[in-house]
Amino acid sequence: MANPKTIPKTILVTGCAGFIGSNFAHQFRKKFPKTKIVGIDDFSTGRKDAVEPSIVFYKGSILNENLLEKIFSEHKPEYVFHFAALPRVSYSVEHPRHTSEVNIVGTVALLESSKNHGVKRFIYSSSSAVYGATKKLPTRESENSNPKSPYAVQKYAGEHFCRIFSELFGLDTVCLRYFNVFGPGQYGDSPYSTVISAWLESLYFPRKEKAFIEGNGNQSRDFCHIDNVVSANISAMESKKNFNGEAFNIALGNRVKINEIKNSIEKYTNKKLDLEKRPPRLGDVVHTRADISKAKKLLGYNPAVNFDEGLRRTIEWFESRKI
Ligand SMILES: NC(=O)c1ccc[n+]([C@@H]2O[C@H](COP(=O)([O-])OP(=O)(O)OC[C@H]3O[C@@H](n4cnc5c(N)ncnc54)[C@H](O)[C@@H]3O)[C@@H](O)[C@H]2O)c1
Repeated sequence: MANPKTIPKTILVTGCAGFIGSNFAHQFRKKFPKTKIVGIDDFSTGRKDAVEPSIVFYKGSILNENLLEKIFSEHKPEYVFHFAALPRVSYSVEHPRHTSEVNIVGTVALLESSKNHGVKRFIYSSSSAVYGATKKLPTRESENSNPKSPYAVQKYAGEHFCRIFSELFGLDTVCLRYFNVFGPGQYGDSPYSTVISAWLESLYFPRKEKAFIEGNGNQSRDFCHIDNVVSANISAMESKKNFNGEAFNIALGNRVKINEIKNSIEKYTNKKLDLEKRPPRLGDVVHTRADISKAKKLLGYNPAVNFDEGLRRTIEWFESRKI
């Protein structure tokens, strides 16, 4: 049970129809049955059927100033969980301007509304992409950031805006740098899909185009199950500290090779993955692994779901999916 002092009356969840936002809203509802959850999404990548039914939902863009003013003045959210974004690296390379509008200007618009309407804390979804090709593993938050794509620059800019809104206006903000998130609710049907969802999609909902593997498969990533990301967001809300734009790695703190994922998927599903071999992606980082000691110490973050358990839960979801 939550500490009664930390039960908010109202929260705002942006991107509530997306993978992380929808999982967050479902789990938040279970933990805080009395809180009013207000959500906004324009369905640019999100899905109607993913929206938590008890949400007060607004269909529209975070770039729509009038809509934001209406939402903030009518509902007065105490906490803002900002998940809305156009989040794929390769999409941002193809559409640098549009993704900058949503990912930077959209974030600033929400910070401004939060400041104007007395929000207690703004919880920002950042990304491990901000580190770029760092060589130091496990990577700590103090490592130099060297963004390598429009998406990474946009997420990094969002972090700086969070920090300066805290410094200039006293709005408390916190930046959660997620590493590769996976789990139920992540569809693998877009050309920008991430590896676990794309491979499972090819096994359970095969299409003409084959799933693929880039490079020799020895590259590795710190894959983090969605439930760990949801619990990090709730801890960030519940904390009694002031964060003033502080950034935290949210990951498992371990890395898994792409080839190992292939083997595990084949073992747990009893199906053979038929993958097209593609050359390594240009500029791709070879390994990622987060140092999560800061989040453990200051946020009380504890990633309860390990990789194998997370993968099994994801496979169960694919097995139960109708469409
Ligand atoms: N999934 C990951 O591995 C990962 C890793 C690091 C960071 N993140 C960050 O986490 C957040 C959520 O990512 P996700 O994986 O759930 O992505 P997603 O694409 O599933 O969800 C994003 C949601 O935002 C909505 N959206 C996009 N533009 C909008 C706009 N202008 N107005 C209103 N809604 C809009 C989309 O329709 C979608 O529902 C993003 O900020 C992303 O940058 C994700």
